[in-house]
Amino acid sequence: MSRASYEAGHLAGRDALGQELLQGTDRPLDPNAPLLEINDLVTDFPLKGFRAKPFRALKGVSLDIRAGECVGLVGESGSGKTTLGRAVLGLAPVTAGSIRLKGQEIGNISAAVRRRVGRDVQVVFQDPYTSLNPAMTIEAILAEPLLTRKVPKAEARERVAHLLEEVRLPADAMHRLPKEFSGGQRQRIAIARALALSPELIICDEPVSALDLSTQARVLDLFKEIQERTGVAYLFITHDLDVVRHVSHRVAVMWKGEIVESGDTAQVTRDPQHPYTQRLWMAAPVADPAKQKIRREERRELLAAQAEAGEATLAFAA
Ligand SMILES: Nc1ncnc2c1ncn2[C@@H]1O[C@H](COP(=O)(O)OP(=O)(O)OP(=O)(O)O)[C@@H](O)[C@H]1O
Ligand SMILES: [Mg+2]
Repeated sequence: MSRASYEAGHLAGRDALGQELLQGTDRPLDPNAPLLEINDLVTDFPLKGFRAKPFRALKGVSLDIRAGECVGLVGESGSGKTTLGRAVLGLAPVTAGSIRLKGQEIGNISAAVRRRVGRDVQVVFQDPYTSLNPAMTIEAILAEPLLTRKVPKAEARERVAHLLEEVRLPADAMHRLPKEFSGGQRQRIAIARALALSPELIICDEPVSALDLSTQARVLDLFKEIQERTGVAYLFITHDLDVVRHVSHRVAVMWKGEIVESGDTAQVTRDPQHPYTQRLWMAAPVADPAKQKIRREERRELLAAQAEAGEATLAFAA
């Protein structure tokens, strides 16, 4: 099914809202323009204490995501991946720079405009055990975003049934509570909730990290399948290289609040250019112990070579 008919079939009123969203800009919508454009984004978090300097979590990040594309965002813990995702969702401060969705600035906007944009950008979090309200049935969880947007009850109900189908859960899941589901099934419910309003972009923040390997693979396949069917774009945050290879078209590598490398997944994972990316790739575990031994040796040589070239100090001085 095409994205257009998929949307038209499920949510009346989207066009009206979409129009409304674009009001106030005189930029025509260019079909070839990126869906999301982040330019020189800076995020400062205020720190406690008199005259304490704020902490700069993002130091001028630029990144584009095209419609229907999956961009993997990798980097070590604390590099700013979640902060970037939260800034796009309007949950982290935009100190400087811009975030545009379909040409419209969404970085610094009023709560009312954000509410309208809200339907276009959704999120799936890492922890399937805390992200669903334990007191609500699956039907109530999935219908909530629809009912808040004044979708009639009967229509919402139909949509919930369709969403469960989309994430390959049985229709009777509707009447059950989150505690009756496994981690993988809960992530499917979280994905269904993210899809409820037919978003253009889903921020996926380590959405399979808490799952065991075989469940991971099935949930990743579901992400891909949904993308192929609906044309939704993903910003896919993960620390796992295998995950990134499996789902993303492009990869961006973050290091200390900056994107140090980006490009096609195959190219960045096979032939990383930045010393930090090379080290990150080398640090990824390998299942086969013999290969792991070779990898460890290569990593030692790489680190020695980088230290000798003084490249590490140069590249990491910023
Ligand atoms: N609300 C906040 N207030 C102050 N500092 C924050 C806040 N949120 C994040 N930070 C800091 O910003 C930096 C980036 O954090 P972030 O959570 O974005 O990293 P991450 O790349 O997602 O890491 P992980 O892989 O561990 O999830 C960290 O140093 C973190 O301590
Ligand atoms: Mg994070």
